[in-house]
Amino acid sequence: MGLLAGTGALRAFGTPMHMAMPAAKGSGLCKHAVADQISVPRLLDPSRLTPFVDALPRPDVLHPKAGTALRIAMRESEQRLHRDLAPTRLWTYGNSMPGPTIEARSGVAVRVEWSNSLPLKHFLPIDHHVCGAEPDKPEVRGVVHVHGARVPAADDGYPTDWMVPGQSRGQTYPNRQDAATLWYHDHTMGIERLNLYAGLFGMYLLRDDHELSLGLPSGDFEWPLVLTDRLLTEDGQLYYPTSGISDAPWVPEVFGNAMLVNGALMPRLDVQARRYRFRVLNAANGRFFRLSLRGQRPFVQIGSDQGLLAAPVQQTSLFLAPGERADLVVDFASMDGSAIELMNDALPLMQFKVTAGKVIDSSRVPSTLRDVPRMAETSATQTRVLTIDEYADCVATPMLMLLDGKHWHEPVSEKPRLGSTEIWSLVNLTEDTHPIHLHLVRFQILDRRPFDVDEYLESKTIRYTGPAQPPPAHEAGWKDTAQVYPGMVTRYIITFEGYAGRYVWHCHLLEHASNEMMRPFEVVG
Ligand code: C2O
Ligand code: CU
Ligand code: CU
Repeated sequence: MGLLAGTGALRAFGTPMHMAMPAAKGSGLCKHAVADQISVPRLLDPSRLTPFVDALPRPDVLHPKAGTALRIAMRESEQRLHRDLAPTRLWTYGNSMPGPTIEARSGVAVRVEWSNSLPLKHFLPIDHHVCGAEPDKPEVRGVVHVHGARVPAADDGYPTDWMVPGQSRGQTYPNRQDAATLWYHDHTMGIERLNLYAGLFGMYLLRDDHELSLGLPSGDFEWPLVLTDRLLTEDGQLYYPTSGISDAPWVPEVFGNAMLVNGALMPRLDVQARRYRFRVLNAANGRFFRLSLRGQRPFVQIGSDQGLLAAPVQQTSLFLAPGERADLVVDFASMDGSAIELMNDALPLMQFKVTAGKVIDSSRVPSTLRDVPRMAETSATQTRVLTIDEYADCVATPMLMLLDGKHWHEPVSEKPRLGSTEIWSLVNLTEDTHPIHLHLVRFQILDRRPFDVDEYLESKTIRYTGPAQPPPAHEAGWKDTAQVYPGMVTRYIITFEGYAGRYVWHCHLLEHASNEMMRPFEVVG
């Protein structure tokens, strides 16, 4: 066992840009905020593992049949994350991390019978001061949410709709929406960060006729790339850091020493010299990935969270926040016989090994992909100004981040009318980027605009300090999670289509979300 003071030392494993340690205003006065010396197990040094020796895993694909429900159990399992590591204890959907990929068709409903077959004790540190994880709650609970799906409230996986081991719940996904890269994950009140960290997430690919008519790379030439990071101990087990306060272990952020792609450490994918489509998901608790191909080789982005962009966008790098997705096409045609790495900043995540020899590639990337009309600001009938801020909270935790200064249990304050369009103006008073996600809806980013934070804190008025910046092309399509930058007002324009009922919106940094950076909203009929 080595000794580290608080969580600060763990940040040495890499702090992404925009992710400086949040400054808890006033927390210096709070005696609980000072962590004791905590002991940390010996951690793995991933640079000592041989890279690119394991084949990139492809999660099983489930094709739902009309009239029958898929059955997916949450269970404890083991998985080797690298050839030279012992199997890692995980909690997974089915028996792999990521869980099986659900392939659905737009307009065809899917029913899944989710069951909780987990053990009765959690293996990661629960903080019983965190809202929803009080000592009277069972330790092990689970509820599944399909992120980005437009579903009735009862099937959305509301955080308090959890079930305990032995229970199951059927949820129906109508799929009345465009093709998109969706994903499913645990959403249990107070412990979602631990459940996802344990391995409870998977892909949900929704396809439609339009997308299938485009001729994009498919079948063997289309791969999910699910990115996560984990702190691994020397013997290959998950380590989830704690605050050092024994009865309040919650930490504001977690960054791993090991980067995983589809649950593998530095895997390799053997590809042909042709186009491939990659469905990239950032499923990490707190890490932002800055993706590029080695040598800044260009690639094409064809879609974002909620489906295809209007037109392909040439990129050399991409900054993806937790919860966000990117649909990419990479052309390996001129690279036969060589290899190229997918990088996160200066670190390789995986390698593409291009087999020698030319192949015939009949796939295409059309120059227009889908009609994505920009939503007019004038179509909104309501604007809500909502702050994102940090608070010192000595009773429960060293620090708390809230949406609009409100706790989870306060009365619902956001009640959009079904079918109406609203602008949500997110005023970020913190020093971090928060990826803010709304359930049920898709939205567009109107703009981001810098303002004077200190003046706002003093007088509650917004004084802009620069012009509004419209989103770049790759963020100008349909989104369900977006990066809300520090010191800026980020405006979402949202039509509340689909269903009336109670949903949630939250930060997708899971440590924030599980400590009250989540609020209900209610669509009223
Ligand atoms: Cu990824 Cu509340 O969701
Ligand atoms: Cu969601
Ligand atoms: Cu946050």
